[in-house]
Formats: sequence, structure tokens, C-alpha cells
Amino acid sequence: MPEPAFAAGTATSARPLMNRVGLAIAEATADDGRPAYSMSLPRIAESACDARLLTSSALGVWGLGGVEDEARLVITELMSNAVTHARRDYVRVSVMRRDLLVVRLAVADFSRDLPRLRAAGAEEERGRGLAIVEAVTAGRWGAEPRRWGKQVWADLEMSDE
Ligand SMILES: Nc1ncnc2c1ncn2[C@@H]1O[C@H](COP(=O)(O)OP(=O)(O)O)[C@@H](O)[C@H]1O
Ligand SMILES: [Mg+2]
Repeated sequence: MPEPAFAAGTATSARPLMNRVGLAIAEATADDGRPAYSMSLPRIAESACDARLLTSSALGVWGLGGVEDEARLVITELMSNAVTHARRDYVRVSVMRRDLLVVRLAVADFSRDLPRLRAAGAEEERGRGLAIVEAVTAGRWGAEPRRWGKQVWADLEMSDE
């Protein structure tokens, strides 16, 4: 993966118009020939909304609406983690079509600390995000360390029935 364009100058506006037409402002990053949409977003809680919109829009274009609910849940948790646990001003959100029925959701951030699945106790309010991602993706998630930080990804597969 090439280095993401994290510089503020290449980021889209903080509250982008995001609908099917608005996907045009999300950079298509098909460096491996597969369809993908990516956006740099400010590392603030409100950006989760834009990440969900990007996700829904991409899935709609690809006819993969069958995993939309799960995808929105997963991207919300990955964004929440990047906002809470990472550093610097921007994150990069990507929605990639890995295969005909498989979509990869990813959030890259500037922290080299890797996500750790925790066993939250019944009384704990935090520490469940990755457990949700683990459950929804049947364990198909991970983190790719990079020189500048890492990319956390999760795959969802739509059933072909
Ligand atoms: N993007 C990230 N950068 C650094 N650390 C992370 C990131 N995402 C998750 N982590 C680590 O993994 C732990 C578990 O994440 P999670 O299950 O979402 O719980 P919570 O976010 O409530 O702490 C976090 O407490 C944090 O230590
Ligand atoms: Mg979390």
C-alpha cells in the first residue's frame, strides 16, 4: 500500500457532502485494480458519521447493501478507536472491494500502537469495540503495521443467497 495522503492539504473538507454523487470527492484508490474509496477525515468523533456515509455509499454502488448494518457498526468501532487511541490530526478511511462479495473496511492512523482484543468485564463500560468487530467479522480483522502508524482492517462477506 502506498503511503496515504495524510497531509491536511489533501484532506477533504471536515463535513463532506457524501452521497452517491459525492463519492466522486472520495478518492478512488484502486492501485491493485480493485475498486476502493478512501477519504482523509479529521480525527474527531464527528468523523464517524462521514465514515458511515462513505461506507454506505460504496456498498450501495457495489450492490453489497446486505452487509450495510454490519459494515456501519464495524467502521464506527474502528473510527472510535482511531479517535480515542491514535494520534495526530487525521485518519484515512478506506472501503475496498476485495472480492465479488467481500468488502474490506479499514482505518489508518498515525499511532504505531496496535489494537488489542480485550476481555471486558461485565461492569466495564469500555473495551468492547474490538470484541464486536471480532464477532461481526467472524475473526477476520487485523492490523498492518506501517512506518508511519498502522492500518486496522476488517472484512465482511455477503452471503450469495
Ligand atoms: N487505532 C488504535 N490505536 C491504538 N490502540 C488501539 C487502537 N484501536 C484499539 N486499540 C487498543 O485496543 C484496545 C481495545 O479496543 P476496544 O476493544 O475498541 O476497546 P476500547 O476502545 O473501549 O478501549 C484499546 O483499549 C486500545 O488499547
Ligand atoms: Mg474502542
